[in-house]
Amino acid sequence: MRILAVETSCDDTAVAVLDGWRPLASAVGAQEMHSGHGGVVPELASREHVRVLPRLVREVLSDAGMASPGEVDVMAATAGPGLVGALLVGLSWTKSAAYASGARFLAVNHLAAHLHAHYEGEDSVSFPAVALLASGGHTCILRMDSWSDVLLLGATRDDAAGEAFDKTAKLMGLGYPGGPLIDRLAEEGDPHAVKLPAPLPDPAEPDTSFSGLKTAVRLAWESGAPAADLAASFRKVVVDVLSAKLLHQAELTGARSVLVAGGVAANGLLRRRLGEICSERDLELHLPGPGMSTDNAIMVGRAAAALLTREPGACSPADSNAFARWTGERLEVLVAR
Ligand code: KG4
Ligand code: ZN
Repeated sequence: MRILAVETSCDDTAVAVLDGWRPLASAVGAQEMHSGHGGVVPELASREHVRVLPRLVREVLSDAGMASPGEVDVMAATAGPGLVGALLVGLSWTKSAAYASGARFLAVNHLAAHLHAHYEGEDSVSFPAVALLASGGHTCILRMDSWSDVLLLGATRDDAAGEAFDKTAKLMGLGYPGGPLIDRLAEEGDPHAVKLPAPLPDPAEPDTSFSGLKTAVRLAWESGAPAADLAASFRKVVVDVLSAKLLHQAELTGARSVLVAGGVAANGLLRRRLGEICSERDLELHLPGPGMSTDNAIMVGRAAAALLTREPGACSPADSNAFARWTGERLEVLVAR
């Protein structure tokens, strides 16, 4: 089963071709023009997707040894959550290409796709599992009883974890995206140097909140805290909170595995901390490899592959639309509208 997957939910244009869950070729076109703005400018992102997507599709098909989109059986695109204008570019392109070539079309949920970065067949994770999905737009803790039975346990009440990294970096004049920049700077600082309040620190509370931390970071920065120490102290608070909540839910649900997904899964301290916790407790830990934590199209293709393994007839209607936010309790791969 040959799958062409397209992801344009934010500022990365991503395309992949897979044979089932196995990637044959993949490319991500990162948009550089937002860095001077300290965040993504939605209209610029949409316009850049329009410009870059056709070339990226040609390149990825050619890398996968295919002459035309007609050799693909399934075309999947992210429908949301994300920036609606940006999503509409990839969704409409994919829908039209599927219609023209007779391929099956699937509209995929971006959050479910992030979890499926880890999908390498039904048995690639031992269930039950708990998952942390932390990106620029989301911070969710989920329980997974199988790839298709995914329940939301907690979410952010305000800023997402990645957003907190981005805003801290912006405040400190480091650039965008802030996560990797803070992560790098934090390696040189003392994580105990700046006292910052842990937000919603109770491990039993699965929701998170990062906006108060943002204010504390601003006050520390304005009173002259050294950049590396502030970066290290901020990163430690975020990692302390996320890992304690995840571990608590793992114990509560009798989880056998822990999955981490989304851009923040690239964080060095988070990876080390979860590595220690999971090895102490004999929990199977799934961390995304290079390029698999931030937005990519392999995860979209894998979500499509997983869905079609369970439901070979699955298909999305031609009027499937883009959406900005996901609300609900059960996270499904296929978007219902
Ligand atoms: O999953 P993703 O590519 O896009 C969304 O769906 O939002 O995540 C991007 C987010 C950004 O906020 C970025 O700053 C953060 O992931 N990020 C990191 C790191 N690398 C990327 N946050 C902390 N540490 C990192 N190393
Ligand atoms: Zn994402």
